[in-house]
Amino acid sequence: MDLKAVNEILSQFPEERGNLIGILHEVQNYFSYLPEAELRYISKKIDIPITQIYSVANFYNRFSLAPKGNNQICVCMGTACHVKGSEKIMNELQEKLQIQKGETTEDLLFSLDEVRCIGACGLAPAVVVNEDTHGLVKPKMVGKILSKYKP
Ligand code: FES
Repeated sequence: MDLKAVNEILSQFPEERGNLIGILHEVQNYFSYLPEAELRYISKKIDIPITQIYSVANFYNRFSLAPKGNNQICVCMGTACHVKGSEKIMNELQEKLQIQKGETTEDLLFSLDEVRCIGACGLAPAVVVNEDTHGLVKPKMVGKILSKYKP
């Protein structure tokens, strides 16, 4: 457990009890997810039951209870992208990464998720990797896109 980091985060919140979401937000930023040991420690420090912390963490989808990959891939599954074959793109990504949507690769390099319309329907089917939007994606382009994000 990274006590130093958690204590530093807690020190930013003088009114700890009222700032659970802010605290979780900082923990998520630091660790890229909400590690169990750290949550249990926070629960004791701010005197909020761990069950309550988990229910807040589960309610907001910006929080993740499992480690996320360094690169977040989101395949748009909105109507325009669906019509243009986003399902095939998702299948290709799942096959190449050997994970299902919602999962993270073992080497923590990639996480794969779906989103609904990212406002780039003219570029359908679209895939977002981190801050980059890839448009007019075809299944055969997937390998090349992934290679841009590999070390
Ligand atoms: S439906 Fe995919 S960008 Fe709009």
